[in-house]
Amino acid sequence: MQFRNYNDANDTVKLNYQKQRQNQSLDYVKNMSKKYNQFSTKLSMQDCFASLNNFIDLSDPDITLPNIHHLLQTAEAIRKDNQPDWLQLIGLIHDLGKLIYLKGCNEDGTSLQEQWGIVGDTYILGCELPETNIYKEYNKLCPDINNQTKYGIYEQNCGLDNCYITYGHDEYLYQVLKYNKTTIPQIGLDIIRYHSLYPWHKYNEYQHLMNEKDIEVLKWTKLFNKYDLYSKEDNEFHIDNLMLYYTPIIEKYIGTYLYI
Ligand SMILES: [Fe+2]
Ligand SMILES: [Fe+2]
Repeated sequence: MQFRNYNDANDTVKLNYQKQRQNQSLDYVKNMSKKYNQFSTKLSMQDCFASLNNFIDLSDPDITLPNIHHLLQTAEAIRKDNQPDWLQLIGLIHDLGKLIYLKGCNEDGTSLQEQWGIVGDTYILGCELPETNIYKEYNKLCPDINNQTKYGIYEQNCGLDNCYITYGHDEYLYQVLKYNKTTIPQIGLDIIRYHSLYPWHKYNEYQHLMNEKDIEVLKWTKLFNKYDLYSKEDNEFHIDNLMLYYTPIIEKYIGTYLYI
């Protein structure tokens, strides 16, 4: 099976990217962080996973099953390689940020119908958009287009943590996990935060913005991407059985509940 074949991707995938490029400005990203970094709803981990049953990712040409299957497939691929339990956990939860739709709306692109503020490959705003962006022909639609140079608003080697990346499930889940004071290693949280930044981890963009720490994060994000991508198959799992294995790991690093 060939993955990420966007040439044959259906119109929904393409339209989602067009809307993302068109609507995500630097201001939008700043506003979304303010708006969605309020975590007042208490949800059991079980309900967090269950809420993804309603979510079919409009940006993903490879899979049409509910997201829980993709999460389990990723986690299982990591487990099979005897990677540490926390990395298996990252596989299991890395897309959980899509549950932002529970408090989202169409205008923000954070609903089931409008997902351009939730899913899709990400890129950095406030500087020039990479040529390696998916559907780069849409780059010119970016609202900040007149204000883009190589460095833009950034200093050399300022570090990715100091950049404004297009808003989506990556950033949202990162902030959720920070707020909830989980014991997941920081490198695991960073993988979650940057796993959709394909121009960076696949095409080596943004070298000039990276700092020392990002070199390590890049290494792990590349490793993770292998599991995220190549475990995608449209086959079903026995979810309950697998969760018997993963629940103690969830308990160990996160607990029973999450404030979302
Ligand atoms: Fe993702
Ligand atoms: Fe994923």
